[in-house]
Amino acid sequence: MSNTETSGWGSRVGLILAMAGNAVGLGNFLRFPAQAIENGGGAFIIPYLVCFLLMGLPLLFVEWSMGRYGGKFKQHSTPFIFDSMSKAPYWKYFGVFGIFTNIAVAAFYCYLESWALSWAYYSVAGTFTGMSLVEVQAFFQNYIELGTSHPVVFWIVCLLINTWILSRGLSGGVEKVAKIGMPLLLVFGLILGVTGVTMQAGTGGSGPIHDGLVGLNYLWNPDFSSIWSFEVWVAAAGQIFFTLSLGMGSIHCYASYLNSKEDIALNAMSAGWMNEFVEVVLGSMIIIPISIGYLGIDAISDMVSGGSGLGIGFSVLPKLFADWGAFGVFAGVMWFGLLFFAGITSSLAMGTPVMGFLSDNFGWKEKKSAWAFGAIIFLLGIPCVLSPDAFNEFDYWAGTIALVIFALVEIILFAWVFGMDKGWREITTGSDIKVPIIFKFIIKYVSPLFLLIVFGGAIPGIIENATKETSFYGWLARFLLLGLFAAISILVYLAAKRNFKTKLY
Ligand code: PHE
Repeated sequence: MSNTETSGWGSRVGLILAMAGNAVGLGNFLRFPAQAIENGGGAFIIPYLVCFLLMGLPLLFVEWSMGRYGGKFKQHSTPFIFDSMSKAPYWKYFGVFGIFTNIAVAAFYCYLESWALSWAYYSVAGTFTGMSLVEVQAFFQNYIELGTSHPVVFWIVCLLINTWILSRGLSGGVEKVAKIGMPLLLVFGLILGVTGVTMQAGTGGSGPIHDGLVGLNYLWNPDFSSIWSFEVWVAAAGQIFFTLSLGMGSIHCYASYLNSKEDIALNAMSAGWMNEFVEVVLGSMIIIPISIGYLGIDAISDMVSGGSGLGIGFSVLPKLFADWGAFGVFAGVMWFGLLFFAGITSSLAMGTPVMGFLSDNFGWKEKKSAWAFGAIIFLLGIPCVLSPDAFNEFDYWAGTIALVIFALVEIILFAWVFGMDKGWREITTGSDIKVPIIFKFIIKYVSPLFLLIVFGGAIPGIIENATKETSFYGWLARFLLLGLFAAISILVYLAAKRNFKTKLY
């Protein structure tokens, strides 16, 4: 039973904005600046750009073309996209990752996204007006420790919004949100970024103590010794994966709705570079310059240890905005609105592969599969909401390790099993630009080797994390993740049997 409705993208602009929206996420504004400071400041950009060119762009080409290829066989999720690329029966089980990771990441990601929603609401409601920094920090702490019912309410609202948009389909839901959300995000980001870097010290009172450029300089001040550190390279690779949404299966899914002759190379470049602009340019112009401008370098460098800018984004900026008077209200709405748009265009991308899998293989309609996705991320989200231990397990196993494993597997499948000559034809068919031939070499040799090294280097950490003692919720999370992987594998097995019977192949 195949799905005869041809749902797809409404327009090329819509597709690029949706793909860029998939990539542009909380990672661009909160994770990147903190990672850069933690890993050598301006010198981080060197490993970061090398990772982008040798791993990011090649994997974008690979994922886009695998997706479009699978789409020809009416497959929109990685288990059966992989299956269509080789005769061997086991590849589809590697493809399980491309559903597993989306569900597991969405489970905690939507919770973070709901913080942006509630903080936008508090900014409008004037909740932070008159609070001291310590009070805003305590408010944030109380929120994440579930001191009120608000976090749960906003989280559920956020899940419902996601589910509702997903149930309206690709062009009717996801694409529309991207077309509104992405331009707004760019405008908000530019306004806040320009405000951040042009901020002048010495206005007295509660004004900034440094110019905006001090923070920018601090972020970009290179410590060249850092490029000799293996950890910095692993951090750069990790950031490239996370920010481009690679190794997830969500790009494959979006690309599987392309027509078989539609351009891949230019589209992939456009979405990828748009993400880099938002990350490297806008991402570095907001939280660091503004927070350092008011609080100084020492206070802020302490807050980014651990590589996350959540504390600055949610507890420092709202306090500073509250001192900005009327413009501060706008700034708050723009900042949290921007984070929310960044978040939702990413979480929607995590829903589509799951829905594609259910509709391709079990004939489920959009509404039904969207609600199934909503329900499962609600259930798996519960431990993440209740305990940071569970949250961290989800983030580590699904949000970091699974991405690298999946990427390694897919590039081997693409370049070595499917074959690089066929693969190159897939990448270049319909292309609106001439892809430099060097990428053929990079995809075949350099990227897999690069990934192997990154993965090899991560092994000690993996062992350490797998054997680390944790709380009840940490164990529950590990158990749930394993259960999820097993459950999807069983569904893939059943789907394969059923497809075989109905002679879909
Ligand atoms: N790229 C998103 C970010 O930067 C995160 C993401 C990962 C989104 C995987 C979709 C899939 O926040």
